[in-house]
Amino acid sequence: EPPKVIFSGIQPTGIPHLGNYLGALRQWVKLQNEAAPNTTLLFSVVDLHAITIKQDASELARWRKEMLASLHAIGLEREKSIVFYQSTVAQHAELMWILSCNASMGYLSRMTQWKSKLALPSNTSPFDPSPNSKAALKLGLFSYPVLQAADILLYATTHVPVGEDQAQHLEFARQLAIGFNHTYAPDSESPLLLPPATILSPAKRVMSLTKPTNKMSKSDPDPKSRILITDSKDDIGRKFKSALTDSVAGVSYDREQRPGVSNLVDIMYHMDESVAESPDALARDMKDLSMRALKEKVADTVDEGLRDVRGRYEEVMGRSGGDEFLAEIAKDGSSKAREIAQRTMGNIRRALGM
Ligand code: ADP
Ligand code: NA
Repeated sequence: EPPKVIFSGIQPTGIPHLGNYLGALRQWVKLQNEAAPNTTLLFSVVDLHAITIKQDASELARWRKEMLASLHAIGLEREKSIVFYQSTVAQHAELMWILSCNASMGYLSRMTQWKSKLALPSNTSPFDPSPNSKAALKLGLFSYPVLQAADILLYATTHVPVGEDQAQHLEFARQLAIGFNHTYAPDSESPLLLPPATILSPAKRVMSLTKPTNKMSKSDPDPKSRILITDSKDDIGRKFKSALTDSVAGVSYDREQRPGVSNLVDIMYHMDESVAESPDALARDMKDLSMRALKEKVADTVDEGLRDVRGRYEEVMGRSGGDEFLAEIAKDGSSKAREIAQRTMGNIRRALGM
C-alpha cells in the first residue's frame, strides 16, 4: 500500500452536536484507528476560516478550546493523529496567497455556498453596513475555498474525509492543484501539489429533533433541537422526549412521509450499527413500539454511544492541568504540521523562484 495522508478540518464552533459527530468526526476516529503505519493523519481546528464572519474574541477563544477538547474526547490520540489550530501554522495563509494568484474568479463565483450568500435582497445599498447586506460580504468569504485548498494541498494530502456539501470545494482544490502543477512544474515527474481524493462520509444528514425537515445545526436558536456530544444522560433523555414525531401508530422508516420518526431511527442506527442491517430493518424490528418507547430506546443508545466521549471531555476540562494538557496537544500537533508544511512550501518557493 502506498503511503496515505489524510487531512480534514472543523471550525471552532464549540462543543460539536450529534450531526457533526455522526456526519464527520466519528469517521476521523475510525480512520485513525484503522490506519496503516504509513498513514499520516492531520485534523485541524480551522480558526482562520471562522473569522470570515465577525467573531467575539473571548467567545472564539472558548470555542477553539472546546473543539480541541472535543477532538481529544472523541478519541483522537496525539501518538496517532496530528491535531492543531490552523492559525498556528502560518503556511496555510502563505500558500493561500500563492494559490489566490492562480485561482479563477469565475470558478469561485460559481460556488454554491457563495451564491447562497449573494442571494440577498437586491434593493439593499452597497454601503449598508448591516450584516444582511451585500456590503457585509467580505473578500475572505469569497476566497474561503482557496484557503480550504491551501489547507489540504499543504500536506500533500491523498484523502480528505468530507460531507457531500463540500464536494464542490474539493473539486476546486483538485483543479487548482492540477492547474498549478501545469503552470509551475510542467515537466516534473512528481507533482508540486497533489490533487487529493475524497472520502465521503457514510452518515446521512442528521436532522433537527424539533424541526426534522431541517438538518441539525448549531445555528438553530432552540437548544432542544440538537444533542451535544457532552450532554448528560438526563439531557439526552429530555431532548429525545420532546422530539417532534407524528400521530401515526407504530414505527416505520420513510424519510419523506415520516421525517421525525425516521430521523430517530437513523440516529439509533448510525450510533450503533450493530443494532441492525439498515435503518429500514431497524424500523421493522421496532414496528410495534409506541413513540415514547422508541424515544427511550434511541436516547439509551445515544447515551451509551457517547458515554466514553463525555467522560473524556469532563476529565480534561474538569481536572487541574487540563488546560496545559490541551495546550501541549496543540503545540505538538502544530510543530509536526509545520514540519510537513515547510517541506511543501520549500518546493513551491523554488518552483516560483523565491
Ligand atoms: P453546523 O451545520 O452546525 O454549522 P458545520 O457546518 O460547522 O455544522 O459542520 C461541520 C461538519 O459537520 C461538516 O463536515 C458537516 O458536513 C457536518 N455536519 C454538520 N451538521 C450535520 C448534520 N446535521 N448531519 C450530518 N453532518 C453534519
Ligand atoms: Na454550517
